[in-house]
Amino acid sequence: MARSARAFVLRHASLRPVPGLEEVRLHLADEVLPLWHAVQVETDDTEAALPYWAFAWAGGLALCHYLQEHPEAVAGGRVFDLASGSGLCAIAAAQAGAGAVTGADIDTFAAAAIELNARANGQRVTVVRRDVLDELPPEVDVILAGDCWYDAALARRVLPWLKAARRRGIDVLVGDPGRRYLPTTELIELACYDVRTTTELEDLERKQGRVYAMRDRAARVGA
Ligand SMILES: C[S@@+](CC[C@H](N)C(=O)[O-])C[C@H]1O[C@@H](n2cnc3c(N)ncnc32)[C@H](O)[C@@H]1O
Repeated sequence: MARSARAFVLRHASLRPVPGLEEVRLHLADEVLPLWHAVQVETDDTEAALPYWAFAWAGGLALCHYLQEHPEAVAGGRVFDLASGSGLCAIAAAQAGAGAVTGADIDTFAAAAIELNARANGQRVTVVRRDVLDELPPEVDVILAGDCWYDAALARRVLPWLKAARRRGIDVLVGDPGRRYLPTTELIELACYDVRTTTELEDLERKQGRVYAMRDRAARVGA
């Protein structure tokens, strides 16, 4: 499946700079529905997940802008990009000077896309293709969570996992454009960016993407 997933990504997405974030090149698609249909045919699964991996999501884009402005947040550190999708945030972390970067996603095509996209950007990203949310958070310095709050069931699992990571002393950075299940009371805003997305995914071409830390971390640094 790994090789055919790579071939599928290459067949259905084209490598190009991310609009508004030209330093990162990704295999991207223009339209979500035809690609989703192709995924359903390829996997013979009408319940197959949306091809999240073929798009740069607004929350991830905000995190990337933050890492460009604040490379010290990840420089030299071990970074884990949860729900990596295309690998967007993992690649941005590597470009910002992270020492070791892992991108994790449950989707087979995302795993292939992360690998292809990291290579296309000349960056090394280790790919984890499994659901890590039932495990202890990994031994890393920073966890990135870009655009994870679009689904109630996922949000219910992500929050305790990120809190457990904080208890282990891991820095957590969340990027989000105001999704419904964002746990705002648990977060403190660090930055806000005007990000370019697509009306294939969102109601508007431009969104406000915010970057947050978990509240206890911000309290510790006096924010
Ligand atoms: C909206 S996309 C965000 C992708 C990327 N972070 C970005 O901002 O462009 C959400 C991603 O979460 C992944 N995902 C969903 N449940 C997951 C889980 N339990 N563990 C890891 N990834 C998951 C999906 O496969 C999808 O690629």
